[in-house]
Amino acid sequence: MLTDIVYEIKGLSYSYLGRFPALNKIGLEIKKGEAVVLLGANGSGKSTLLMVMAGLIFPTEGATKFLEKDLREESFADAAFQRFFRSRVGIVFQNSDAQLFNSNVTDELLFGLVQLGLPQEEVDRRMNKYISLMDIGHLRARHPQYLSIGEKKKVAIASVLVMEPDVLLLDEPTAGLDPRTCRHLIDSINSFNREGRTVIASTQDIHIVSEISKRVVVLGEDKGLVRTGPTEEIMEDTAFLEQHNLVHVHAHKHKDVTHVHPHEHPSHDHSHQ
Ligand SMILES: Nc1ncnc2c1ncn2[C@@H]1O[C@H](COP(=O)(O)OP(=O)(O)OP(=O)(O)O)[C@@H](O)[C@H]1O
Ligand SMILES: [Mg+2]
Repeated sequence: MLTDIVYEIKGLSYSYLGRFPALNKIGLEIKKGEAVVLLGANGSGKSTLLMVMAGLIFPTEGATKFLEKDLREESFADAAFQRFFRSRVGIVFQNSDAQLFNSNVTDELLFGLVQLGLPQEEVDRRMNKYISLMDIGHLRARHPQYLSIGEKKKVAIASVLVMEPDVLLLDEPTAGLDPRTCRHLIDSINSFNREGRTVIASTQDIHIVSEISKRVVVLGEDKGLVRTGPTEEIMEDTAFLEQHNLVHVHAHKHKDVTHVHPHEHPSHDHSHQ
């Protein structure tokens, strides 16, 4: 690879239908092998930024480069680039319904894999690995559309992990997952990252931020980038987190007196006991 910069984003603005602003002059670089979490209140542009990075929507203003190539609609007219990009970048959508379109779970997972032209043993290895990781073996023959919300999410995640993409984009990946699946997902995000893959995830789940990232990117309520820095530094800055609506303030009663303090779980631990 010629560069270690995976994404180079400059002056990126996006508005839906030219009327609904969603990203405001974002400047950001992401290096190969980074593990980044996107934080931001509802509507701050996290999903939109991930969609731009996934080459699904294109900047209204500014530019996004992937490995020095502009992510513009024209770039995807080149079939070779399209194949290159789609085999390397995987996205798990916030809404699993947008992701599932096959008539059974097995086909959902096989759909992209088959196009990679892998040997059968490798296809089998990956299918078994991610089906067991996401605990969806019992759902193999089911129609994805008629699964529970959490089951759909598991299938959608497995269908992306099975591709083992170099760049993994995850939009609120743990939302609605049960604890064991959540644990497995965090472990595999980390093992993907240890293999040198780039991981970029948005989340509202403040507890997983330190587990899955080394850097945090914060989008503000004006849809601009307000801060990026080491995860530890940002997660310790409670005043900043509160200011940008990233932690909520707990109120609880002790002997009829209401105490208010920021949401903190210093000993929070997702691991099995
Ligand atoms: N399809 C759409 N059409 C019009 N406006 C949209 C559309 N999708 C998103 N927006 C607007 O773009 C802005 C950014 O939305 P986006 O979904 O990227 O935010 P988000 O940070 O992912 O929010 P959430 O935490 O709720 O998932 C919001 O103001 C939203 O109303
Ligand atoms: Mg979103």
